[in-house]
Parts: sequence; C-alpha cells; structure tokens
Amino acid sequence: MFPKNAWYNAGWDYMFTQSQKNGLTQSKGSLVARKIAGERVVVYRKPTGQIVAMEDRCPHRQAALSLGQKEGDGIRCLYHGMRFGADGKCNEIPGQETIPERACVRVFPVVEKDNWVWVWMGDPAKADEKLIPHAVGPGDPDWNVKTSHMSVNASFRLEIANLADLTHLVWIHKESLGAGDKVSRERFTSIKPKFTMFPNAMRTQYVVRGAPPSVFLQHLFPEGALFDWDFDIMHTLPCTWVLHFKIFVSDGKLEGEPTGQLVAETWTCQAVTPRDDDSVDYYYSWGASKSTDFPGLSQLLCDNLDDAFSEDRQALEAQHVRMKERPNHPMVDIIHDAGPGKMLWLLDKVLKDEAKQAAMAVA
Ligand code: FES
Ligand SMILES: [Fe+2]
Repeated sequence: MFPKNAWYNAGWDYMFTQSQKNGLTQSKGSLVARKIAGERVVVYRKPTGQIVAMEDRCPHRQAALSLGQKEGDGIRCLYHGMRFGADGKCNEIPGQETIPERACVRVFPVVEKDNWVWVWMGDPAKADEKLIPHAVGPGDPDWNVKTSHMSVNASFRLEIANLADLTHLVWIHKESLGAGDKVSRERFTSIKPKFTMFPNAMRTQYVVRGAPPSVFLQHLFPEGALFDWDFDIMHTLPCTWVLHFKIFVSDGKLEGEPTGQLVAETWTCQAVTPRDDDSVDYYYSWGASKSTDFPGLSQLLCDNLDDAFSEDRQALEAQHVRMKERPNHPMVDIIHDAGPGKMLWLLDKVLKDEAKQAAMAVA
C-alpha cells in the first residue's frame, strides 16, 4: 500500500528529453514508461517542452500507450491507432465516426521542480505544489550538483528504513561512504540524533565528531586527519531524502556546533519511488557548493553514491527475499531502529488516515 495523495518522483527532467536506449527512435520521441505506486504511467514532453503524465494503459484493450507514438500534444496507441490528447480524451478512432465518452485516459498532475519531475497520484484537487519537498537541483547556480539513478528489487519500506538510520555507513558502506575502523564505528554508532516530526516528514540532525574521512575521500587528506560531519536531513513521505551535509576539520571537541574550518558544504537529494511492493526506482544527486567545490569533487561524490547504493541494493534485495519468505518471522529491535521506526510509523499513519477518508467518502 502506498499513499495516494502525494507527489511521487518520476525522475530527472533530462530523462524525458533524451532519446531512450530501449529501441524507441528519436522520431517517436521519448515516451517514458514508469510504474509509480502500482500505477502504470507514461511520461512525455509536448512539442512545447511541457511535461505530461497519463495512465500507460489504452482504454480500448489495455495496450501500453508508451509503446505507441507521440502525435502533436498527445499519443496514438500502437494497437488500433486510437489517438488521445494531452487531456487524456480520445480524439480519433480510425474507421469509426463516434467517440465513446469513456474513451479517455487518466491524466495525472505533473510538475517540474529542482530538475525533478513530480507526479501526483491522488485526487487532482489536492495536488498542491507547495507539498513538493525542498531540494537543490543541478540547475541551481550556487551548487555543482551531479545526478544518477538506479533500480532496486526491494520494498519501499526497506528503503525508507535504510535512509532513516545512517549508522549503517560504518557497516554496509565500510568501503565507500563510511569507514570500518574502530574510531569511525565508535563515533557513528554512539550518535544521538535530534528528531523533529512533521505531519508528513521527519527532520534528523546530528554531528559525528572527530571521525576519519569516508574511505572514498581518504586519498584527498593527510593520514590521521579527523573531521566533524554535520548532518541535517529532511525525510519526507512518500520518500524524499534531502541532506545538507557539511564537513569541518575536527576542532577536537566532542560536543556542540563544529568550529573547525569548513572543508566541504554539500547537498544530496534523493527520491525513492515505489514501483510496486517489490521494487523501487531511486533518483539521487550529490554536489558541493561552488565556494567549497574543487575540480572533480562533486562528480566524485555522486559516483560514490553509485557504489554505495549498489552496496545497499545487495543488502536490501537479500533482506527483501528473506522477509517475503517469512513475513511473520520474529524480529528483535535495537537502538538504531529509532529513526526507521518513526518514519514507518508516519507512513502507516498517513495510510490509515487515507483509508479512513476513503471509507467515509463511500459511506
Ligand atoms: S488497444 Fe489501444 S487502440 Fe486498441
Ligand atoms: Fe546506505
């Protein structure tokens, strides 16, 4: 189950402009097939560049509209040639004069913001753009943000839990984002995050004091160098995870605001979109401020996310298989479940509230 009245991320803006590597020719344009929260969606640009998201399912015999072709502002189905406008209404049935009223496709509200494409999967009347989480995109003039993406065959809930607890940096990511030495493990596993709850989000703040650099950054610093890592994360449902991350030279203190020299100020913006109960699409970025970046750093940061998220993917896919094998297997809770517990509680609350509202609407 997924929240309905929410903005879901359909990917980076350029994904709907470039030619696709799936056999579609450039002349057919980029009709991009997505599965978002269990719904088939086709996303494309009109000749004006404006983006459209509609159900990827022809109302005639459920052919995939994404396999058809763009025609003007709309799409022509590949099977019997019915043509639909960007409003979803059929405007031509080859060989038939009258067009049945029901010959229309659901169109979803869609917005481009911060170089991301957002699709609203619920009641269009509730699609408020102000609900789209704050992010820093590659188009922001003050930041050198690089982007990437991957797919993971694991449940959306496992991804939420994974992102809500970063102590796994010193375990799953001991060769990439984190480090596996004794000091790093001690520092990361003893953090006491400050959680602030919102109706559909959780803010998590903490500083990891006096820890060595991540393994993937160690070649940039003298041996033995220690840093204070400042995390400020806004984690919004369904699943957007935005981290304002700063690295300071360690000031030697183990408490308080870091006062050492700022080495890098960065944003990483990540969106996990459930396709269905067993898979997600993951769109992410990382980049430094123009004032702290140096040649190659932002690309190094983003490339490292590809490596790190491959590590997460391996762990989560194996976890997902086991959870499906034994859904009622008893599980023990530990201190690091606090963040995941809060986010999953929030998700369940939103789902329950939506179910209650739907039941009231029917009654
Ligand atoms: S299935 Fe689309 S026109 Fe027949
Ligand atoms: Fe991870």
